[in-house]
Amino acid sequence: MIRLEVPLGSRSYPVVVGASALDEFQSLIPSGVSRIAFVTQRGIGISLESELPSSVHFLPDGEEAKKLSVVEDLCSAFAGDGLTRKDLVVGIGGGVVTDVAGFAASVYHRGIQVLHAPTTLLGQIDAAIGGKTGVNIPEGKNLIGAFWQPSGVICDTDVLKSLPEREFRSGMGELAKYHFLGGEGLDELPLDERVAACIQIKADIVAADEREGDSRALLNYGHTLAHALEIEGRFDLRHGEAVAIGIQYAALVAHALGRIDKARLSEHERVLDVYDLPRSLPEGCDVDQLMELFGRDKKAMTGLTFVLDGPEGLSVVPGVPENTLRDVLTQM
Ligand SMILES: NC(=O)c1ccc[n+]([C@@H]2O[C@H](COP(=O)([O-])OP(=O)(O)OC[C@H]3O[C@@H](n4cnc5c(N)ncnc54)[C@H](O)[C@@H]3O)[C@@H](O)[C@H]2O)c1
Repeated sequence: MIRLEVPLGSRSYPVVVGASALDEFQSLIPSGVSRIAFVTQRGIGISLESELPSSVHFLPDGEEAKKLSVVEDLCSAFAGDGLTRKDLVVGIGGGVVTDVAGFAASVYHRGIQVLHAPTTLLGQIDAAIGGKTGVNIPEGKNLIGAFWQPSGVICDTDVLKSLPEREFRSGMGELAKYHFLGGEGLDELPLDERVAACIQIKADIVAADEREGDSRALLNYGHTLAHALEIEGRFDLRHGEAVAIGIQYAALVAHALGRIDKARLSEHERVLDVYDLPRSLPEGCDVDQLMELFGRDKKAMTGLTFVLDGPEGLSVVPGVPENTLRDVLTQM
């Protein structure tokens, strides 16, 4: 078992990674908890045992679950269970479950403890770590949410065996970004160590900038185009697949701006190919529409802002020239 910590002072928490990590659940229940509300989805089929009184709540599948109305229903169910301010919510699922369970925990009784047991690769290396929770509104993904750190995270790599192949590959899209955040050579590690190495990178970034005032934005590498493709909505893309296309795009933009050389561009392509990830825009993309969506990005405060690679590694680059962005989209 690999044991890590997200170091955030009094809100620091443990992350356990490995086969059978779910066996650690009992020992990670914070003291003083007298009731547990499990939040999961029917298709996941993973449950946790506790001697404490507990209830199980099922969310709808997919982004449909990331709605304020679902959070309201969940909070009503918590109240029906008699969950108090001292009790515990446990999210068992992918990023959708941990985002919604975490957000519900952040607002129920003005905030109760939450423990995450992420069951997708994307959830284990990214969504369940770092305390970002939230839901979508028609105007954008994750526009309503809270920073709410869990009291612990259990990443049982055995549970990934039942993950549909495409969902596993989607997690690889987020994993690919860690190669450019200090994770060179990740593809040579066995799965448990690879998951733990990504968590360590994310934990270090979150510890330095918990509320994304600065360096945490680097975790959005590849996400500007990814979010535009997801909002556009016509394409059959999992989140990590969209991120992979976004990473390729960001590398091409960095190369066009002279920030990285051909060898570094090739390294991006190698990493995306190692994980069998898409690198081209889906058929039928509308360049004008993508440019318009870039303008709505959270980072777009000083012109069009992208996370781009460069001689010093990744950095947040404001004012990326529109003609370059447009040319590279057209070329892709
Ligand atoms: N909070 C963050 O920091 C953060 C970071 C990245 C992504 N996200 C969010 O995460 C979400 C995507 O998460 P995801 O990719 O995990 O997708 P997901 O949560 O939708 O899960 C994918 C599918 O796999 C199923 N599933 C989950 N675990 C399974 C298992 N072990 N076996 C079989 N089936 C299983 C789920 O029921 C679902 O149908 C997006 O909403 C994204 O915005 C959040």
